[in-house]
Amino acid sequence: MKNESRYFTTPIYYATGEPHAGHLYATALMNVLSLHYQHRGFETRTLTGMDEHGEKVEEKAKALGMSNQALVDMLAVKWKEIYTQFGFTYDIFMRTTSAEHKENVRDILSQCHKKGDIYFGEHEGNYCVECEAFLTSKELDENNNCLIHKRPTERRKEGNYYFRVQKYLPQIKELIRDGKIVGQRRYINELLGLCDSYEGDLSISRPKSRTQWGIELPFDSNHIAYVWFDALPNYVTGVGGVTAARTSPFWASATHVLGRDILKFHGLFWPAILLSLDLPMPRLCVTGWLLSGGHKMSKSLGNAITPADLAPLGRDAFINAAFRMVNPGEDMDLTMRSIIERYNADLANGIGNLASRTLAMIEKYFNSEIPAFHSAHLTEDEKHLADVAQRLPSQVQSAFDELRLADALNSIWELIAHTDKYIAQHKPWSLAKQTDEESRARLANVLAHSTAVLRSVGYLAAAYFPDRMLELLRSIGEDAASMSQAFSRADHFHDIRSGFKIQDIPRLFQRMEVPAAESRQPAVSQAAKAPTTGASSTSAVPLTSSTVASSAPTSPSSTISIDDFAKVQIRVGTVINAELVEGSTKLLRLRVSLGELGIRQIFSGIREWITPEELVNRKVLIASNLAPRKMKFGLSEGMLLSTEGQGGKITPVFIAEELQEGALLA
Ligand code: MSP
Repeated sequence: MKNESRYFTTPIYYATGEPHAGHLYATALMNVLSLHYQHRGFETRTLTGMDEHGEKVEEKAKALGMSNQALVDMLAVKWKEIYTQFGFTYDIFMRTTSAEHKENVRDILSQCHKKGDIYFGEHEGNYCVECEAFLTSKELDENNNCLIHKRPTERRKEGNYYFRVQKYLPQIKELIRDGKIVGQRRYINELLGLCDSYEGDLSISRPKSRTQWGIELPFDSNHIAYVWFDALPNYVTGVGGVTAARTSPFWASATHVLGRDILKFHGLFWPAILLSLDLPMPRLCVTGWLLSGGHKMSKSLGNAITPADLAPLGRDAFINAAFRMVNPGEDMDLTMRSIIERYNADLANGIGNLASRTLAMIEKYFNSEIPAFHSAHLTEDEKHLADVAQRLPSQVQSAFDELRLADALNSIWELIAHTDKYIAQHKPWSLAKQTDEESRARLANVLAHSTAVLRSVGYLAAAYFPDRMLELLRSIGEDAASMSQAFSRADHFHDIRSGFKIQDIPRLFQRMEVPAAESRQPAVSQAAKAPTTGASSTSAVPLTSSTVASSAPTSPSSTISIDDFAKVQIRVGTVINAELVEGSTKLLRLRVSLGELGIRQIFSGIREWITPEELVNRKVLIASNLAPRKMKFGLSEGMLLSTEGQGGKITPVFIAEELQEGALLA
């Protein structure tokens, strides 16, 4: 096992309000990075926290009629609660009002001052309170409004202390050019541009006559530290201060996650301070913005997705959407609909479906025991599948090392798509009908390969979806307690636990309904709720075939329009599993595969008329867009269509084998 370290930080967030999806994105990124390196055997440390000083915070507290301290205390609790709610973890929650941090900032100020890098001077310029900075002419519009915050700047003339950024500029440019500060090409260019246009030095103090909410300078009690000179050193506080940082393996391996709006502070001012302190450079991971309607998501614009919006979707849906579509660095438009659509495609129908199908077939065809590989019967495409899977761990590793998290996730989901195709081609359900030895060996191979893919994906995707992937790994007998070896295990594709008896088939990711307003599809829940006649009205009662059968024949007065009819989606499904429901005399629990739409659990009241064995592997018709219904025995996610014959006998509508799973009746 490697004994290397990695230190990941988020920006510390202004204590002016609650987080939105844009902030959660950076925290999620830190979590995914840190877990990934833990799974490669690294020791990691993570830091997030709050930027609690500065005029912005003061303004906010005044507006709320609270003391500054009461506001920041309240928000620190709130942010921590939201992190817990989403399962985001951190080793250090840094608060700039903490004694430890204040001491570190004063120490850094003293060291830079002693070195002659801080001097007193006068400056007049346009100040943006939102940026907490004097802006250059390029950062202002023609009316002197801040280009980022679109609000007026104030003309200020102040006697302040300055940090000698110019002294270090040539050295910083060289580091940037050599890729020692940021590796993302776009931001190397942007930083070089910022260096070229940078004029003067950085004002690092504010007179106490203006504000007292900050850290007093150690060499002038009439001034406090400028909020950015107070905030940036938090990363060093996190490893125990400057002296500790000189030898800290965490500092030597630091990666700062930050949004592109604060690149100048992290890529220009922070390196200057670190050069003055003679500390190694951290690496920057610059992210683009989450956009909503083409604009940066923000509280003030009122276009942000909030934690309350995200809560019903859960952490995994957010993470999948945020890290699936673009690599960190690019902007991305995110909507509730795009999050749910990606979730359904990648998690519910992708890995979730592959897991439930594979394990259900092992349960059925191998008495729940994971079969072994039969090397004498391997096909070419099985060798190819194993090759692809075996290359994946190193691909994911290099993608992470280059901060290409979307490429990593996409390559994992491609393996799932590859495996789905492989299963469809090998038709294990048909092989299961043969009794000869070769068919049995080939069936074992299909399910052993599918299990091996689940195992690889479980290890490789655990950084993104830790809880669900651990559940998956445990279900196939893996020792998920020691995840520090996840990557070395994934290197051995064939190491599945043959003979392990599967106890439970985890239902990893339940499908979610796309919100009606944003849906391209007819509104599922409205169709289900509509008080119309026919099949859709039956969703208000338990979803059983008998409820269809009991519907009265349609009278002319109860006809429905073609639009109403179009709301009901009827699809072809294969019953892959059927069982009696303990505690019910009427119900059967079915697992029905709807192809691309995944596997549905459906309760049907046909136990009296048919045995589970008569249903399994038969093609049936399913009303597939009814709102899922919570029943005493679990969730019913559709309705099996049946007919009522003589003497009230209910028979499911069986249809031709050749019809494709998931096909929509039109
Ligand atoms: N307090 C400073 C950071 C100091 S770090 C030494 C700050 N705080 S902030 O709360 O305004 O922003 C924190 C982070 O959230 C920034 O990286 C910013 O880019 C990020 N985001 C805020 N809105 C965002 C989006 N809509 N999308 C992505 N990230 C966004 O700046």
